[in-house]
Amino acid sequence: MFHGQLWAQLLPVFVLVVGLFRLAVAVKHENFKTCEQSGFCKRNRAYADNVATLGESWTSPYTFVSNSIKIGSGHVTGTVLKSLGGDTPQSVQLPIKITFLQSGVARVTVDELKRQQKDIELRHGSSARKERYDEASSWALIADDKPDTSVKGEISQQETTVKYGPNNGYRAVINHKPFSIDFFRDNELHVKLNGKGLMNMEHWRPKVDKAGQKEGEEPKEEGEDERTWWEETFGGNTDSKPKGPESIGLDITFPGYEHVYGIPGHASSLSLKQTRGGSGDYHQPYRLYNSDVFEYEMDSPMTLYGAIPFMQAHRKDSTVGVFWLNAAETWVDIVKSKVSSNPLSLGVGGTTDTETHWFSESGLLDVFVFLGPTPRDVIEQYSELTGYTQLPQQFAIGYHQCRWNYVSDEDVKDVDKKFDRADIPYDVIWLDIEYTDGKKYFTWDSHTFPDPLGMQKQLDDHERKLVIIIDPHIKNEANYPVVSQLKSKSLGIKDKNNNLFEGWCWPGSSHWIDCFNPAAIEWWKSLFTYKSFTGTASNTFLWNDMNEPSVFNGPETTMPKDNIHHENWEHRDLHNINGMTFVNATYTALLHRDSSARRPFVLTRSYYAGSQRLGAMWTGDNLAHWSHLAASIPMILTHNIAGFPFSGADVGGFFGNPSKELLTRWYQAGAFYPFYRGHAHIDTRRREPYLLDNPYKEIITQSLRLRYALLPAWYTAFHAASISGAPILQPHYYAHPSDEAGFALEDQFYVGSTGLLVKPVVTEGAESVSIYLPPGELYYDYFTYDIHHGAGTTITIDAPLDKIPLLMKAGHIIPRKDRPRRSSGLMRYDPYTLLITLSPNGTAEGDLYVDDGESYDYQEGAFIHRKFSFAQNTLTSSEIETDTQSNKGKKRRNYLKTMDRVRIEKIIIVGAPKEWTKKTQINVEEDGEGRSVEMAFTKGDGKSANWAVVRDPGVGVGRGWSAEF
Ligand code: GLC
Repeated sequence: MFHGQLWAQLLPVFVLVVGLFRLAVAVKHENFKTCEQSGFCKRNRAYADNVATLGESWTSPYTFVSNSIKIGSGHVTGTVLKSLGGDTPQSVQLPIKITFLQSGVARVTVDELKRQQKDIELRHGSSARKERYDEASSWALIADDKPDTSVKGEISQQETTVKYGPNNGYRAVINHKPFSIDFFRDNELHVKLNGKGLMNMEHWRPKVDKAGQKEGEEPKEEGEDERTWWEETFGGNTDSKPKGPESIGLDITFPGYEHVYGIPGHASSLSLKQTRGGSGDYHQPYRLYNSDVFEYEMDSPMTLYGAIPFMQAHRKDSTVGVFWLNAAETWVDIVKSKVSSNPLSLGVGGTTDTETHWFSESGLLDVFVFLGPTPRDVIEQYSELTGYTQLPQQFAIGYHQCRWNYVSDEDVKDVDKKFDRADIPYDVIWLDIEYTDGKKYFTWDSHTFPDPLGMQKQLDDHERKLVIIIDPHIKNEANYPVVSQLKSKSLGIKDKNNNLFEGWCWPGSSHWIDCFNPAAIEWWKSLFTYKSFTGTASNTFLWNDMNEPSVFNGPETTMPKDNIHHENWEHRDLHNINGMTFVNATYTALLHRDSSARRPFVLTRSYYAGSQRLGAMWTGDNLAHWSHLAASIPMILTHNIAGFPFSGADVGGFFGNPSKELLTRWYQAGAFYPFYRGHAHIDTRRREPYLLDNPYKEIITQSLRLRYALLPAWYTAFHAASISGAPILQPHYYAHPSDEAGFALEDQFYVGSTGLLVKPVVTEGAESVSIYLPPGELYYDYFTYDIHHGAGTTITIDAPLDKIPLLMKAGHIIPRKDRPRRSSGLMRYDPYTLLITLSPNGTAEGDLYVDDGESYDYQEGAFIHRKFSFAQNTLTSSEIETDTQSNKGKKRRNYLKTMDRVRIEKIIIVGAPKEWTKKTQINVEEDGEGRSVEMAFTKGDGKSANWAVVRDPGVGVGRGWSAEF
């Protein structure tokens, strides 16, 4: 008892000391492997170095065997032989399948015959599967490959050529000896596989004990470095590697391409850096191995929480891409070389080639090639394969208030009231791990949260929601039914000896649910019913954290690679997919917890290609530091162009206490994150916006109101992402693919297709920012309507603390709602404002997508999607997407009826022509009836544009109408 009390008294001090100490230190490099410390990474880099040393005299030992080749049904199949050399030359058979998809994407899949046939021996009596992991596609891809059965090919002695893609404008030339593949679009080479001869499939071989040499010891004879083939130790943990060396490697060259983007998550630049040294460049490859990296560092290729192995290469007017479908630990080296020194480039496009080198520890070699030609095409093709962003509920794109932790239900209700008292909008309040009874998920701490439903009732009164955290570690404690069931049903991840794996996380000793197992998903579903998880209601949503998985005492803070999953796959093979499977289980559980069929909301920390289908991600545990605010922009942009746009960073910074200025600037930037959440570590001071004094409080309130005013535009952008994969934030290269000067721009971006151009302030004490404007474009300041002409240079705009640098590209129509409310739900039937930015020739376009913001009725036509166009002095509203059968049903009619009275209350025209100076009336026509409506014209001061306002044109948002100016 005494000890308990003393401990209780000392705990805050301990936490504070640990907290302070943590803040003072940077990432613990020693906890994470460098390439040299990761056996297969070192081996593959050494392979590349050897090839470079040998130069012209090197020939890749891989041959596509001519008489094995078959072409048909959209595939080229056959055998690639890996020659092992030696006195009696031996070779390894590698079955290959090249698929040409109807979408114009090519897929190259290489397996290893011996492992495929399970004709290998495992060491240490392991029960792991013998095959290379071939189930990554079933998690990452939404549909089976749809091969284009009409493609035709020709086989000659030296090469096999296949024409495919739109109008057969693409060509794959498969060189037989050595094996490599060249991808051409319009007779230009764009992507080359194994052009540098770095392909490396480590085949299975029995372990031969060398006399006198101990495991891990420096080799005594010449030959391959076997030290990390059979066992690997790091940080006191030994990986038993029962399958021996099995890595795969391949070089992928983009001839004439200077910029490559993608492969999140890293705290790195948008345009990826070189990784083999040089000034300002990295010495380590970009690593993809989902990890809980404590206090991650800036400007680094170190791995973070999620992995999307999708890369785009871009040059003036051309974009291509690759997707490396492999779930094991992966590294990517990037080298840029001048064309003159490189015979591969064939003089195309730019003057630089980007040479990338990919290697993964195990699994299939499975790579997709996208030939563009625009960034939009590449992302669309990738998204068609891996799925689109979930269309979230409307509330999910409002503001989220989180901290570790709101300590009681009374605390939550108090925060809720204080937001209201301060007139600050928010949609969601979050509960971190402390709401549980001793970190036992699916329970509530009955002392601090005696009445969770009462608390949620208060939130619901203003249409607000609650998000609670549930992590994948299940506390190993007696009398906890959840862990008893996990054990009795055998649904946990196993260790290498096939016993339930035990490790440490927040609750102390824990087990981990294995969501690769369909039975585990079924069980998970049963835990989320309102009856089972008492205290939850239909406005409770979920946060899945620590799903890399984070294991405090595991190697690199994660799970041992020789752990065993469902169907005996080794953890090594599927590590990067693990986080996604957990979110999938939670998402499925939310879908089935009641019959209302509302869209789930789940936030995840760990992710893989395909996670975009299931919810939002955030960039993990950042720091309350200006550098972390700055880094959040390229990080979020990278996710946007990698098919996962619903992304954000902790506003204010997770660790540490931000200054008022930093917090204010972060709220301003966050207003333009697709996922907008304030969050803070348990050791930090409270920082809810209403706690600040003025001017900070007022400025933050205005940022939040700006977010809420623009919600119609955001929701429209989410809708576009949900049907095409379009980024919600567009970096410059995406929006202006011909403007070379902007290809590396990473600190300014557009919001969807609204033309809104944002340049968040990310430096202390800034009074202005410089913003790059492409040539030939006209911009207006969002707040002052000041005119800026783009000339391919940067301009300086004022950015005192109360101003977000925000411009509007001329030629757009932005839907808005201008009545401040407490939450987005309360704005449902509010009238709209249309903000029109006229181009120099007097035109503008935009769209608006609206639905009920919560159900799936939109799939049966219950939505409004309007196109607004302004041309020849006339603004028209016309319908988009009306001709499908589902759009004629009852749900649509009912929905349109509920929206019947929602109107457009204001039209603002920025850049109004001076001919309107004396105009006071415009003619509006709706349903064949015309009427005259007042218009007020304001002349600009030369610096600012003229503008006109039409108040209450009286037109319905879901109707067809026109307004003649
Ligand atoms: C992890 C999360 C953080 C959360 C904390 C406690 O560090 O990244 O957001 O607050 O765990 O659950």
